[in-house]
Amino acid sequence: MDRIRIRGGQPLHGALHIGGAKNAALPLMAAGMLTDDRLLLGNVPRLADIATMSALIAQHGVAVVPDGRTLSIGGPIDNTEAPYEIVRKMRASILVLGPLLARVREARVSLPGGCAIGTRPVDLHLKGLEQMGAVIRLEGGYVNAAAPGGLRGAVIVLPFASVGATENLLMAATLADGRTEIANAAREPEIGDLATCLLTMGARIEGVGSDKLVVDGVPRLHGAAHPIVADRIETGTYACAAAITGGEVRLVGGQLAHLGAVAAALRSAGVEMTEQDGALVVRRAHGLHGADAMTEPYPGFPTDMQAQFMALMSVAEGAAMVTETIFENRFMHVPELNRMGANINVHGASAIVRGVRGLSGAPVMATDLRASVSLVLAGLAARGDTIVNRVYHLDRGYEALEQKLAGCGADIERIPG
Ligand code: UD1
Repeated sequence: MDRIRIRGGQPLHGALHIGGAKNAALPLMAAGMLTDDRLLLGNVPRLADIATMSALIAQHGVAVVPDGRTLSIGGPIDNTEAPYEIVRKMRASILVLGPLLARVREARVSLPGGCAIGTRPVDLHLKGLEQMGAVIRLEGGYVNAAAPGGLRGAVIVLPFASVGATENLLMAATLADGRTEIANAAREPEIGDLATCLLTMGARIEGVGSDKLVVDGVPRLHGAAHPIVADRIETGTYACAAAITGGEVRLVGGQLAHLGAVAAALRSAGVEMTEQDGALVVRRAHGLHGADAMTEPYPGFPTDMQAQFMALMSVAEGAAMVTETIFENRFMHVPELNRMGANINVHGASAIVRGVRGLSGAPVMATDLRASVSLVLAGLAARGDTIVNRVYHLDRGYEALEQKLAGCGADIERIPG
């Protein structure tokens, strides 16, 4: 298995390109199953999760044709089963459920099950689809769903603003009979991107960007071309990389507006951020201060930035309290950061990070994508060598991570193994 070796201590200077958002690309690819025509997605990142989603959609019979940075998806569906062998690799596979039900009125999708960061049920997806007329049975680890008369509009109030449930229900509603209202909808920019694409495909949606989506179903959607929005989590991660090394980096394509509470937290920690000619310039000229962060649905602080921000806070002056409210088990990076010399104590859903003068390199590993990248950030600031094991987590969500960081002066390399 590949590893990444980092020799820390180099301030990052230079420019790097922010790719299309993984978490926008996955639902957009599922949306390609809503039409017989071609959906042409642009700015597609090269990531393991995109390959997994491509394989899933292709085994439903739908043509998935990559061409450089574009991906064309569309065609008839000839298989309604999403098998365990693929779904277990990536929870976002559940996003084919809404499109399958809407388009061919039946689906058999493996339950994703637990994952490293928590139990992560899909009950909100299923309840919403039931309200739209689907009959759902759970059997043998699979969701068996059918809507023989087609889905119909419904008023759905999500008890929690789930990203995936909002996306699944939004896609299903575009082809349902009548009007669907999704209240307490999640408002992440990736959902706005999905809605924008669905509108281009002929869907009728109001309230895009708000917590109430109103969808009037149409009989069919047509093909479209849509460029995927820039990845705000990749942007935030490299902003933390610039900050933790005390450097200055131009994040080309990065959008300040989509950083939400991350921008505020970084600024209160002493990081400067300005938009210049289509790039976000991130600079840390002076010391870092401890700043608190609590994860919340967008526009709150994203759970997908919690580990990276904690790595940054581990070398700040003073203390920071980092609270995780979205997932119950998302502090696995803490023991590894502590092995590198950080001083972090977890109490329930909160971690007290007392800043230390410096970190020291160590062999480390993590069990999920964002935890892994937080160890890369710590390695960039640490004295000596850090070896990050289980690099396949990074490959799920960061394209060309080591090339991008090396391009800004980091001493980092992949060791094939
Ligand atoms: C998406 C993102 C993921 C991010 C998360 C929260 C994608 C592909 N993944 O995941 O990177 O960390 O949003 O911003 O976009 N929940 C339920 N029942 C449900 C659905 C969710 O209880 O039916 C709970 C989950 O267990 C979790 C919380 O709601 O505690 C958030 O989940 P959700 O917003 O649905 O996240 P995902 O869509 O899985």
